[in-house]
Amino acid sequence: MVAIDGPAGSGKSSVSKEVARRLGWGFLDTGAAYRALAWHAAASGVDTEDAASVVSCLDSFDYAIGTDPAGYAVRVGSVDVTEAIREPGISAIVSAVARIPEVRTHLIEVFRAIMAAEERAGIVVEGRDITTVVAPDAPVRILLTASEEARVARRSAELVGHSVSTTGEQLRRRDLADSKVVDFMNAAEGVTTVDSTELDFDQTVEAVIAVIRDSQ
Ligand code: C5P
Repeated sequence: MVAIDGPAGSGKSSVSKEVARRLGWGFLDTGAAYRALAWHAAASGVDTEDAASVVSCLDSFDYAIGTDPAGYAVRVGSVDVTEAIREPGISAIVSAVARIPEVRTHLIEVFRAIMAAEERAGIVVEGRDITTVVAPDAPVRILLTASEEARVARRSAELVGHSVSTTGEQLRRRDLADSKVVDFMNAAEGVTTVDSTELDFDQTVEAVIAVIRDSQ
């Protein structure tokens, strides 16, 4: 199992998915679960700043996250939310949902069950607290970082029609909120940092695979 953490816009999801595909492993995007819950709460008309209301949404949170990097999809009930959960509207509310302790406990249990089921085939799990809380004993633990400038530039390229300054402000606000819950800006002991500031996508994938090979 490979655990990968990092801040917003570090390329974690796309890099982790491609690493999993090349290794023939499974892939778990834990941020997608927090995003799917934020989507579900918003779609249910719940105020996502109200922790008790969000927690009450967990009972009706029927979702599925694919672990096949080739056919990756996220569903809530019968709705395919793979694209919808990436919208800036969800990015703006997800931190408030993710900081609720009951939400974290609930989802971490789900992640550990998925990891246990996929352990033998191999799985790349990415998020913010995978190397430190969810799977601190993972045989390979990586912190994928990039300068804030590079991360904002990448996120802006993905979000056509949104200004770079708005995207930058949202990214900074989310990292600040998220890092109050868990530290994903600094590598914990035993965690290898891969800085992708000067690397393109392919080079970053290769750098991550090199860390995995070196630790085998
Ligand atoms: O990785 P991504 O940016 O899609 O994550 C969305 C949000 O989910 C983060 O901003 C954070 O609030 C939350 N998250 C978390 N713990 C994780 C993964 C994501 O709190 N392991």
